[in-house]
This record gives sequence, C-alpha cells and structure tokens, in this order.
Amino acid sequence: MTRRPYIVGNWKMHGTRAMLSEARAIDRAAQRHMKVEVALAPPFTLIHPIHREAEQISVGAQDCHHEDGGAFTGDISAAMVADAGAKFVILGHSERRQGHGETDGLVRAKAQAALAAGLRIIMCCGETIDIRESGRAVAFVGKQLKASLPPADEAPADLAERVTIAYEPIWAIGTGTAATTDDIAEMHAEIRKLLVELYGEEQGGEARIIYGGSVKPENAAEIFAVPDVGGALVGGASLTADSFMGIALAAGEPTDH
Ligand code: PGA
Repeated sequence: MTRRPYIVGNWKMHGTRAMLSEARAIDRAAQRHMKVEVALAPPFTLIHPIHREAEQISVGAQDCHHEDGGAFTGDISAAMVADAGAKFVILGHSERRQGHGETDGLVRAKAQAALAAGLRIIMCCGETIDIRESGRAVAFVGKQLKASLPPADEAPADLAERVTIAYEPIWAIGTGTAATTDDIAEMHAEIRKLLVELYGEEQGGEARIIYGGSVKPENAAEIFAVPDVGGALVGGASLTADSFMGIALAAGEPTDH
C-alpha cells in the first residue's frame, strides 16, 4: 500500500486568532496538493475555529488527558478535543516528556484514551544527544516506544490507519540541524521492525513513520527520499503557509484538483 505523505504542522504554544489567516492560507494551498495529506495541530484554543473553516486539512491537538473527565483543573480530555473538531492528537512529544514529566506509562494511558475517543494518534519518540553519542539511540527509542504504545491485545484493529510514529531526535528539534539521512534511515528501519514485531505485518508493516526535527523546505526533499519516511512533523517551519507548503511541495507535485 502506498500512502500519501503525511505533513503535520505542530504550532506548539504559538498562535492567537491573528494566526487564523495563516491556517486559511495553508488550507487553500493544501487544496492544490492532493497528493499530500496536510494537517495542523494548533493550540487548543484554535482547534475549533480552524476546523470550522478548513476544507482540506485536518486539525489535531498537541496533547490530551488520559481520563475522560473529572476534577482535573486545566486539563482537557480526548473527547473534548474531538468535540472541538480534532481528528488526531500528538502524544509523547519530548517537550511534554521533559517539561511536564510525562512518563512512558502516562503517554500510553493517553494513547489508549485518545484511540477510545475515536482519534488518530501521532506517537513521538526520540533520544537526547547524550544517548545518541553513547551509541544507545536505537535501544532507547525501541524501549520508549514499546512502553508508550498500546499493548498488542489492546491495540485497535485498524492500527495502521490510526497510529503514526514520529521519530524526533531531541537534539534536532528547533536547532536548525536535522538528523542525517543515515541516522533517519537506520532509526526508521528499527522502528518498522518493532512495529511488525508488536502488531504483525498487516498493521505494523503499514503504520506510518514520520520524521521531525528541523524539517524545512531546504532539507525536506532529501529527508522524504529516505526509505520508510512517510512524512514530517514540523514545528517552526509550519508557522507560515509559505515555508510549510514548501515542505508539502517537496513531498509531492501540486495537483489540478
Ligand atoms: P521543529 O520542531 O521543526 O521546530 O524542529 C519539530 C517538533 O518539535 O515537532
């Protein structure tokens, strides 16, 4: 099965309503890039306004709580983001693992809650520079993913459709320097092996694996040429339609509708 490249913008904590015009421009441009699946994860407050206007792109959240509801001041559940129009949620991003102390176990609980609420998930994983330099990156990411993803007997039957893995080496996020194509190729191949081992060939062999960490229009084409790179999770370069759609262009030729 050949899937369309999946290009997801992670706006992080950027964006007030003033950014809606940028989202509109991304949506309009995405209509000319039907060979690419374009998605945006804005802050919670912009999920509904963007969803309401979007004709082409899908909208997602950057996190959700692992419980359906209750006395959790300041939190938001998977059902709530789905109700606002989110179709997916990014989970286990390193900025949440590091900045909010999210453990693999908590990330797994969030994944199960999100899938139960009917959302797709983008499960992030990635190693620090120290782990990479000590030669333990593959082992670390494998262990992290195994503990963060749902166990096979609790995974959805259509896992390949609903679960995407984002490999994001922490040292490449926001630094301007992406991982080398060799590092990406090696890690994606290892992640693929793990997915097949966990979920079997039919689902684990087909789930998308995307790369994140300083993806920009200038380096996107060489990253997309790496075997088993199914798209990109893009932070900084997703904040303007120009640079974000420059990345989409590298993933597929424009179409005439
Ligand atoms: P970046 O962020 O593209 O700004 O490096 C990627 C991410 O954190 O998802």
